[in-house]
Amino acid sequence: MLVVETKNEVRSLVDSWREAGERVALVPTMGALHEGHLSLVDVVRAHATRVVATIFVNPLQFAPGEDFDTYPRDFEGDLSKLKKRGCDACFTPERASLFADDFSTTVSVAGVGENHCALTRPHFFDGVATIVTKLLMITRPDIAVFGEKDFQQLAVIRRFVRDLDIDVEIVGAPIVRESDGLAMSSRNLYLSGSERAAAPALFKALSAAADAARNALWADIGVQVEADLRAAGFSKVDYVHLVDRDSLVDIDRADRPARILAAAWMGETRLIDNVAAGPTRND
Ligand code: PAJ
Repeated sequence: MLVVETKNEVRSLVDSWREAGERVALVPTMGALHEGHLSLVDVVRAHATRVVATIFVNPLQFAPGEDFDTYPRDFEGDLSKLKKRGCDACFTPERASLFADDFSTTVSVAGVGENHCALTRPHFFDGVATIVTKLLMITRPDIAVFGEKDFQQLAVIRRFVRDLDIDVEIVGAPIVRESDGLAMSSRNLYLSGSERAAAPALFKALSAAADAARNALWADIGVQVEADLRAAGFSKVDYVHLVDRDSLVDIDRADRPARILAAAWMGETRLIDNVAAGPTRND
């Protein structure tokens, strides 16, 4: 596996592959890789002949006081996992090479980027949209893959790629979970033993809510889910919303393809998860 640090190197590499008729996929990550990240490599393998991962802990998507400094980093471990998984290259840019001192441009997605997670993390999707735009412009892949674990992020990325006519196919990949249902996340490393034991209650509560949403109004179910999460040990619930699967607009019954999105705090750790609801519940 090639490890490339500069924009010019990665761009010439991808250009040379594309000129040779290869189909190139991009897998953007912030490192501390787990099976959820690595599954993205498998998913795009079905669509591409070359896979380029990126590792960059993006400062733009962390607000002051969030965990940018303590975000888990395991560079050597990540490279060896990607290599084992058959990744062809890994782009690991230096922060200074991506941001000039007077860097001043933001990609901002209205609507789908303004609700749910954006209510408590208003900086977040602008930070994601800006860095993902840059990574797509730098590497110019045919395809890029993102996990449904970050369902709103995926919707935001689909939206700006369409709106800005960026010539790339966006592929969504299913959520990879631990055997007890907890969605894999680099931030699960922050959980203490007892918090880790309680955390799968999030997926259980959302699954039960998706079943209940077949026959009841969300107003009643949503209140119950929040109470269940608090009873299970979550200290704070940022939100639990039933939304239209494509627009992410809040809806009051699951009478169309829908998703239940949630963010809740287990101690000092904010966990997010989501499940399908409505007619596509068992897709
Ligand atoms: P990060 O949290 O490292 O995640 C990288 C990719 O892995 C994202 O597309 C995310 O949705 C996916 N992923 C994480 N956990 C997953 C799981 N359990 N199952 C399936 N996919 C999972 O998301 C980001 O980084 C950043 O915001 C990024 C897009 C790289 C921009 O900085």
